[in-house]
This record gives sequence, C-alpha cells and structure tokens, in this order.
Amino acid sequence: MYLDFAATNKISQIWIDSIIHSNSKNLFGNPGSYHKAGFEALDMMENSTKNILNDIFEDKEIANQYDICYNSGSTESINQFIYAMSKQQNVLIVYENVAHKAVLKSVQKYFPEDNFKLEFSLTVEDNLKNLKEFLENSQKYYKRCVLVLTSVNNETGGIINPEIIGKIDNIFKDYREISTYAGERLIDVFIDHTQGFMKNNEIVHLADVFCFSAHKIGGMKGFGGLVYKKEYERILKENSLIVGGYEIRGGTKDPISVKALDDLVDDKYIRRIISGDTIVHLHNVIVWKLQEIANEYKIELTFNKHSDFYMKDQSPYIINASFVGIEGESLMSSLIDDCISTGSACNSSELKTSHVLSGMGIKKLIANCAFRISIDETVNEEELKDFLDNRFKPAIKFLARMRTRHGEE
Ligand SMILES: Cc1ncc(COP(=O)(O)O)c(C=O)c1O
Repeated sequence: MYLDFAATNKISQIWIDSIIHSNSKNLFGNPGSYHKAGFEALDMMENSTKNILNDIFEDKEIANQYDICYNSGSTESINQFIYAMSKQQNVLIVYENVAHKAVLKSVQKYFPEDNFKLEFSLTVEDNLKNLKEFLENSQKYYKRCVLVLTSVNNETGGIINPEIIGKIDNIFKDYREISTYAGERLIDVFIDHTQGFMKNNEIVHLADVFCFSAHKIGGMKGFGGLVYKKEYERILKENSLIVGGYEIRGGTKDPISVKALDDLVDDKYIRRIISGDTIVHLHNVIVWKLQEIANEYKIELTFNKHSDFYMKDQSPYIINASFVGIEGESLMSSLIDDCISTGSACNSSELKTSHVLSGMGIKKLIANCAFRISIDETVNEEELKDFLDNRFKPAIKFLARMRTRHGEE
C-alpha cells in the first residue's frame, strides 16, 4: 500500500486527460511566438494562471495582486527567490532550523553570513530575544529582512503559526525605528508551500512570495511555480537564476502543463470542499489504530509534533510518530510491499537522525524511531485498515519481541 503522499503522488487522471485534450486541440504552440498557435497557447496560459490564483486565494482582488513564474517546482523556486534577495543590499534572512533541505542549502549558499536561524527547540521568546541581540550586535545595518517559513512541515505535518510573522516584523520595525500603517509590514515573507498547496492555503494570504510543486497534488514531477506579488517581478527578473529570454525564467513555456495544473487545482479545490472530512477521518483511523497497537503490546507511542506556538495546527495529511525502541528503519524494512517513510520525503535514503526532529528538541532515541505516514483523499479506508491490522501491527509485534530479546541478552 502506498502511504507516502508527502513524498510524491501518482499522476492524476485529470492531469493526463487535460494534456491529451490540449494536445489534440493543437494548443501546443510556443506562447512566445507571434502566430495563431502562439497566441492561442498564450491565452490559455494566462487564463489558466488567473484561474489557479483565484482558486488559491478564493478572492479575485487578492489573486490579482499575484503572478506565477512556472518552473521545475519548489526547489528551483526556493533557489530563485533566495538568490534574487541575496543580490539586494543589506538583507538579513531569517529561516527555520526545521526547514526543508532546499531552504537550508539555499540559505547556506546565497546568504552564508547574513542569516538568522529560528531554533524550534527554543521558546519563541528566546528566539525573538536572540534575534534582537543579533541585530543590535551586528556590524552591518540591515535594511531588509526576508522571513522564510514553511506552511506545512514535510516531516511532521505541523502548520506554521502565522503570529510569528507579526512578531518578527515588530522586532525589525523596532530595529529600523520605522513605524508603518496598521497591518503594513516591513519584512518580505516567503512561504515554502510545497506540502500545503491546495490543502492548507490560508497562510499564503500572508506571503509575498511562495512556491509549490505539481507532483504533490497529482501533477507531473519537475513542474511547479513561484507565486509572487507583482511588485517582486523586477527583483526576480533582474536576478534570474536561469537566463535565456526576457522573462523571470528563460526557456520555452509549457502552456499545456499550466492548463493541466489549472484543471487539477480546480478539482482539488472542489474535492477539498466536498471531502474535507474524509481526510480528517482517515487521519483519525491511523491515530486510533496506532494507539490500539501501542496499548496491546504495551509500547510507548509518541506523536512527533511541534510546540503549539511554532506550529499551531496539524495537517491531517501527515502523521509522524515513534514506537519507542523500534527503529524507523527496521519498521520500514519489515514492510516489504508497503510504502511509509522514516524521514523527510526527499531524503529518506539518509540514515542520519532527522534534522527536523532533532531541531525540535526531540531526543535521538525517539527521533530514530520515527516513521511518517502520509495520505490523501484517494486512500481507501478498508485497504488502510487492512494494512494497519494485518501488516503494520504484526511488524510492530515482531520488532517489539526482538527488542525485548535484545534487552534480555
Ligand atoms: C517542504 C518541502 N519543500 C521543498 C520540497 C522540494 O520540492 P521539489 O522536490 O518538488 O522541488 C519538498 C519536497 O518534498 C518539501 O516537502
């Protein structure tokens, strides 16, 4: 059974049908070309972009403030934005120690010095105090602060608490001694929205720029985008990572994939309204079953969640838990035909303790026992229960016995 939806999804029939339909209607033209096929493709792309933004923001006026640069997905978008901001003068980047590797590596590469890391193992107050001290003691005078947050953490499913944005903005306003109109921010907010895209869209109303990857919702891998407020267009264009035209990103555009994304987003939008309870129910089934197993075999079970402040809610799509004493790797290798994950989606081959869990202050003993089950609405409840009762539970039983045996030796 496939339960690693946070890593990637099967290509949806909607995507496939849309591609076939557009191709058969000869909508394959290069939107940069001045001929009929080019104009038709451009119209389709612009129209789809409008629809996608309207579905994300559910408000035409807000949607109209943004545009999308299509690219290969979140990793590229993160690089693109962080690189462009690193080319501005006197910028400090504030980021999370529990961010995805794409953020951590981009910050290391493009902002090796001017960065401040929020440590999720510390209290918010301590982090804010440290940031204040960092700014006061810095040799440099920072004019701009870029805050990089993750809407939904890919390992734990924690949903970021938006209050952190206002708190960091206030610290930066105090430091710059600038007061603004109510609600007007001084900082630039980037949100890594890879896991929250079309699932937890509320937070992106607070983003100036955010990213997504189509394959997380049933599109093709290697396609996604950077959604930006139009006032960022100049900075992005002047500092593009991939040059080769007059656009933010050089290269021939793919209107057919944009239309497929539009169709997929439409479906996700409608499906979320009609099946919002399904995902919560499936989530609860997993939580109940894990608790049942823990009780039956008397094994300590922890759900690896963030503190309430950093991550105010939990996405029902991701569950991260540990049966204490049973290593995640051993559990995974006993589930031959089933797919769950031990660590972050894109790094599950690494045997190192997850930087997310250790970054949250979770002890190594528990972090190394972590496993992640991630789902979507298409998961069949009966198959899920069958997996948990007839394959997952026996695996835990077996590994718990091994653990006791080793303990006795
Ligand atoms: C939170 C988060 N950010 C960024 C990425 C990178 O996405 P992609 O591999 O599609 O570029 C992932 C991938 O799983 C992710 O979960």
